[in-house]
Amino acid sequence: MNIRKPFIAGNWKMYKTCAESVETATKLAGLVSGVTNVDIMIAPSFIALALVYEAVKESSVMVGAQNIFWEKEGAFTGEISPQMAASAGCRYVIIGHSERRQYFSETDLSVNKKIRAAINNNLTPVFCIGETEKERDADNTFNILDKQIKMGLEGFSPDNVQSVILAYEPVWAIGTGKTASSGQAQEVHKFIRDLIENLFGKKIAGSARILYGGSVKPENIKELMSMPDVDGALVGGASLNAEKFAEIVKFK
Ligand code: PGA
Repeated sequence: MNIRKPFIAGNWKMYKTCAESVETATKLAGLVSGVTNVDIMIAPSFIALALVYEAVKESSVMVGAQNIFWEKEGAFTGEISPQMAASAGCRYVIIGHSERRQYFSETDLSVNKKIRAAINNNLTPVFCIGETEKERDADNTFNILDKQIKMGLEGFSPDNVQSVILAYEPVWAIGTGKTASSGQAQEVHKFIRDLIENLFGKKIAGSARILYGGSVKPENIKELMSMPDVDGALVGGASLNAEKFAEIVKFK
C-alpha cells in the first residue's frame, strides 16, 4: 500500500504575466477547494510569487519557486535567495530542472548547494533528475540518475533529506507530448527508491515522495499514479490551464 500522500505540482516556467498568474491561481484554488488527499503546489515566475501567494493563501494550494541561489544575500545581480523566496510565501523550491541544467549551466554541484540552502531555510526542495534521449538510447539511464542523485545529495544526513521530494523527469518527455509509459516510470522510480534506501536507509526511502514529470496530462495521470512508486507529478504545460491542472489534481 502506498502510504505517501500524493503531491501534484505545477511548474509554470516562463509563462504568464502577474495578472494572468493571479487569475489562474485564483481559479485553481476554487476548483480544488475541498481536495485534502493531495498536496498541491504551483510554481509561478519569481515576479508573480508574492501576488499568487496572496491569492491562494487561504486555500489548499501551496506556492513554490522555480529556482533559488544558495547565498543569503549579496552582490549577485539577478538572483533570489531562499530567504526571499520564503518571504514571498514559498514553501517549496524546484531545484535542478533540466531546463536550468541545459540553458543556465546548472551542475550537480550547484544543485547540491541549492538543496542545502533550501533545507536550511525550511523550503522543501523538489529535486529534479532525468536522462536525455541520447543517454536512454545508450542504456545510460541508471548511471546518469545514480550520478545526479549521489552528487545532488552528497554530504547529506538522513535527517537532512527527509523532507526532500524527488522528481524524475526524463528530458525526452518534457514538453514533447511523449510520456514515459507507466512501466518505464515505475522501473526508474523503483531504482531511485532503492538507491535512496542504500544511501539513507529504509525509513527515508519509504517516506520519500518521487514525482514523475514529462507531458503529464489529465488523460495519463491516473495510469501513472497507479504505479506503486509514483507518488505524484511535476506538470509543465498542462498546469498553465486551471481546469486541466485541477483535473490532474483530482485524478482519483
Ligand atoms: P511538461 O513539463 O509537462 O510540459 O512536459 C514538465 C516539466 O518540465 O516539469
